[in-house]
Amino acid sequence: MGPSFGSNTMSVGLDIGTDHIRVAQVVPRGSSFALTGYGMIGIPMGAVAEGEIVDTDAVATAIRELWRRSGIKTKNVVIGVSNQKVVVRLIDMQYMERAELAGAIQYQAQDYIPIPVEDAILDFQVIGDYMTSSDEHMMEVLLVAAQRDMIGSSVAAVEAAGLKLQQIDVTTFAIVRGLLGVTPSVLPDESAEGEAIGVIHITSGITNIAVVEKGVPRFTRVSSLAGNEFTQAIANVLNLTFDEAEDLKIQVGLPDVEQHIAPEVPGVDPQRAQMAQDALEREVSKFIAEVRRSLDYYLTQATQVRTIRKILLTGSGAQLRNLAGYLEKGLQAEVVLADPLAQVQVAAGIQQMVTEDRMGCCAAIGLALGSVAE
Ligand SMILES: Nc1ncnc2c1ncn2[C@@H]1O[C@H](COP(=O)(O)OP(=O)(O)O)[C@@H](O)[C@H]1O
Ligand SMILES: [Mg+2]
Repeated sequence: MGPSFGSNTMSVGLDIGTDHIRVAQVVPRGSSFALTGYGMIGIPMGAVAEGEIVDTDAVATAIRELWRRSGIKTKNVVIGVSNQKVVVRLIDMQYMERAELAGAIQYQAQDYIPIPVEDAILDFQVIGDYMTSSDEHMMEVLLVAAQRDMIGSSVAAVEAAGLKLQQIDVTTFAIVRGLLGVTPSVLPDESAEGEAIGVIHITSGITNIAVVEKGVPRFTRVSSLAGNEFTQAIANVLNLTFDEAEDLKIQVGLPDVEQHIAPEVPGVDPQRAQMAQDALEREVSKFIAEVRRSLDYYLTQATQVRTIRKILLTGSGAQLRNLAGYLEKGLQAEVVLADPLAQVQVAAGIQQMVTEDRMGCCAAIGLALGSVAE
C-alpha cells in the first residue's frame, strides 16, 4: 500500500481501543507537526475484546459517528493493531541484499513466530548490521507477523465505515513514535550506551509494553492486564457493578506507596475505600510481575544493554493515582508520566478536547505521525 497523493501533507490515525475509538489528524508544520483534528467516541462493551474487533458493525457505526462529530474530512486512515495475534520479534540473520531478504524471511519466519506462516502477513524492517567476533556479517531484522483473519476484521470495519485504509501499523510502534518522535535518533538519546527506555501504555483492555534503544523499539509485548482488570477486581471484592467499581477506582486510586493507608476520600466509606485499594494493590502486584517478566526477557536477549533505568508511562490507565510510585518501587526504575503532546503543536480549536484526553491520545497521534513523515 503505497502512500497515495497528498498522504504526506495530512495524515489521519485511527486508534481502535476497547472502550473508545480515537482519531488524530496531523500535518507537517515547519520542522515539526501540528495536530489539526481530534476526536473520540465510546464503543459498546464487547465490540472489541483483547485488542481484537469482535463486532465489525458496531465498530463501523462508531467510526462513522466519530467522523461526523470530529468534522474530519479525510477518508484515508492509518490504523494500529495490538493483540495476541500480532507478534514482533528481533532476529539476527546473515547479512544479505534487500532483494533476497523478503524471500529469506518468508522461509525462516516460522522458526520465530507462533502463528502458522501461511496464515500470517509478514513485514520487516532492518534495524542494523554488525560483525561477529568471527567476522561474520550479520543483520538485525525486526519481524512483524500478524494473523491474516485478524487484520481482515480491522480492514472490514474501516471499509464498512466508508474509509480507505492507507496503512496498518503495530500500535506499540505508534505509541513509541508518539512519545519519542518520528525519526530514530542517531545521537545518543537520554539513554546512554548500555541503557534502554521502557514504555508502558495502559488502556482499558490492553497494556502495551515496549523497550526502546536509541529511538528504535526492539521489544514489544501486549498484555490483557489493564484498566478493566483493575476495575473488575474492585467490583469482585465489593460486589459492585462494573460501572460502580470504575467510579470508585478513579476516586480512590492507590494509596501512597510508602503508607498503604487509605486517605480520606470525600463521600467514600473508609472501609470500602480500603478494600478497593487492597484489591488494586493486588492487581498492581500482578501487573508489576508481568512487566518485570517482559523486561527480564528483553534483557536476556539483548546483547549489550544491561539496564532499563527509565520507564515512560502513558495511556489513560496510567492515571491511576500513585501508580507511578508503585511501578518505581516494583521495577527499580525511574517511572515518568510521559507527555504525548510533546511532539505536536495542538491547533487552537481542539486544545481543550485534546488536553482532557492527554494521556489517552498517544496511539492515535503516533499512528498519524507514522504516515505523515514518509
Ligand atoms: N483517573 C483515573 N484513574 C484510574 N484509571 C483511570 C483514570 N482515568 C482513566 N482510567 C482508566 O483508563 C482506562 C481507559 O483507557 P483508554 O486509553 O481510554 O482505553 P481505550 O483505548 O480502551 O479507550 C480505563 O480502564 C479507565 O478506568
Ligand atoms: Mg477509553
